Amino acid sequence: MYKILDGKKVASEIKKEIAEEVAILKSGGKKIPHLAAILVGNNGSSESYVAYKVKDCEEVGFKSTLIRFGSEIGENVLLEKIAELNNDPDVDGFIVQLPLPQHISENKVIEAIDPRKDADGFHPVNIGNMVIGLPGYLPATPYGIVELLKRYGIETSGKNCVVIGRSNIVGRPVSILLSQKGMDATVTVVHSRTKNIKDIICQADIIIAAIGSPGFVTEEMVKEGAVVIDVGATRINSPDTKSGFKLVGDVDFERVAPKCSYITPVPGGVGPMTRVSLLRNTIIAAKRN
Ligand code: GUN
Repeated sequence: MYKILDGKKVASEIKKEIAEEVAILKSGGKKIPHLAAILVGNNGSSESYVAYKVKDCEEVGFKSTLIRFGSEIGENVLLEKIAELNNDPDVDGFIVQLPLPQHISENKVIEAIDPRKDADGFHPVNIGNMVIGLPGYLPATPYGIVELLKRYGIETSGKNCVVIGRSNIVGRPVSILLSQKGMDATVTVVHSRTKNIKDIICQADIIIAAIGSPGFVTEEMVKEGAVVIDVGATRINSPDTKSGFKLVGDVDFERVAPKCSYITPVPGGVGPMTRVSLLRNTIIAAKRN
């Protein structure tokens, strides 16, 4: 019988730990950590992610600020706001929720963030530090995945790990973290141009699915006893929920789960771990800056 990797439960334990750290900072007369988020436009998924991030901050006792812009704002206005947050001593860390409207360069925006305040760990300086194993802020989703594996005591050393997807914010960085000393996995990254993708995924002891294609991973791709981490969170319309939509993962959970030793659900798996990683980066920033 497979076991669920309960990201929601683990995230809630980590939030308790962070709340205790905040209480210690407070009682020592230190400033409480402050995370700011910039949201451009009104993409439904981004709206709900940011709302959750604000709620998380309240839960652990952080200060949070949400800055909203309409989708038509000029790139310059956004870059000016970023410069302002870089220079605001009260803000320890901030994020710019992605995706951004087409006319704004995501790379330019990410590069404008002071790496010391880059709570998402997306800045090239932080990515570079991660690659060579120096301290810095780790990208939130990969950090969350690694923490989830650790907290469940899942062995990664010498394991065959297949990462599906090569995005800058999940696939590529998680492949780097898993191959690093201490994690010691043998990592293969597969993507849309990979030949015989099914044969490669079949050999994985650990599968990280991060392509954003609902139900992509089917049971014939999964080895008996594999650990499956589903990063997918595609919003689809659903008559069964109050909101009128539901989140679906990259894994065909019903069919794949019976073959697994461990598997993450969607929702309640990777998502809460991503959010808690952002809090972790923010408290590190607050202590450092
Ligand atoms: N869009 C999807 N995931 C993320 C994330 O982790 N951070 C930001 N800023 N935008 C996202």
